[in-house]
Amino acid sequence: MKILAVDTSCDESCAAIIDTTQWKLLADVVHSHVDSMKHFGGVVPEIASREHLKGLPLATHEALETAKLIPSSIDHYIVTNRPGLIGALLVGLSFTKSLAFSVSKPFSTLNHIEAHLFSPLLTTLDGNEAPPFPWIACVVSGGHTEIFHVESFFKYTWLGGTLDDAAGEAFDKVGKLLKLPYPAGPKIDQWVRESATAEHRTRYKFPRAKTKVHTLSFSGLKTAVALEVKKSDLSNSNQVLALAASAQEAILDALVEKLLQTQKLLGVTTLVLTGGVACNSRLREKLPHAHFPIPKHCTDNAAMVALLAGYYAKHDRLIAEPWNTTAYPSLNTMGGN
Ligand code: KG4
Ligand code: ZN
Repeated sequence: MKILAVDTSCDESCAAIIDTTQWKLLADVVHSHVDSMKHFGGVVPEIASREHLKGLPLATHEALETAKLIPSSIDHYIVTNRPGLIGALLVGLSFTKSLAFSVSKPFSTLNHIEAHLFSPLLTTLDGNEAPPFPWIACVVSGGHTEIFHVESFFKYTWLGGTLDDAAGEAFDKVGKLLKLPYPAGPKIDQWVRESATAEHRTRYKFPRAKTKVHTLSFSGLKTAVALEVKKSDLSNSNQVLALAASAQEAILDALVEKLLQTQKLLGVTTLVLTGGVACNSRLREKLPHAHFPIPKHCTDNAAMVALLAGYYAKHDRLIAEPWNTTAYPSLNTMGGN
């Protein structure tokens, strides 16, 4: 069976194709909108919707060409319809529905966070072992910092998450205060890795919020960095590096402490992390035993959606949905599976 998956939940137009018989990814295309967003210093929802109108048909066309397939040779179309920027989701949903409709093929929807959650299983497409269940899993991105207890494939519980900003959002807001280009997460990671010393990382004692189990908070850190920036000389790159390195350390320490605490409380040895922040090299250094997808599959992609759809198909759970299916912006307003 060949499944074409689409994801447009934020600012990347993604299309991928999986062959569930061979258990192989035939195409995996991402058209990022980062260049259009740089100018605004963050994601502008309406611009993301417009960029999807341009990027999604191109990404889908490229995926089909790479796989040497045409729309009618796809057996099932799948699209994430929750959670995400509503305008962006609507573009992906309308496009996928129309494409499926035009070739009389079934379509169904999936949850974007659930796709991130099981993305560590993408490694099975290369014949590798999957991390053994149960997992403590954390989806840590620009929009989410969610902690889950995953007992088995379709059995998972949301334990908690951030009370305010997501970890990636904290990176990006710190970056904005330090006048670094958007998105600041990868830039801070690289700069600190290449140039920071232990002294830079510990120069500023930014707060690690003391929150209840399974919860995090990054708004205090942002305020603390803003206060320090007021006293600082941002033309002194050594000082900016120390601010960035110390802030990164605070974000990651808070996250690592929470995850280790959750693992201990639930007695779960396997820890998996996905989402854009899971690309972070310092985080990977701090959690040497955790499982991370390759960086390309930590950030938004449709390969993880195709893979999840593949598992749904294997378990006879890939059910065609009606043409009036809609999209949902938040984790709390989701319907469907
Ligand atoms: O998962 P993602 O591509 O999109 C969603 O937010 O859904 O995550 C993007 C976020 C941004 O906030 C970006 O700054 C952060 O992930 N990010 C990183 C790194 N790469 C991406 N943060 C820290 N270190 C990185 N290497
Ligand atoms: Zn995402």
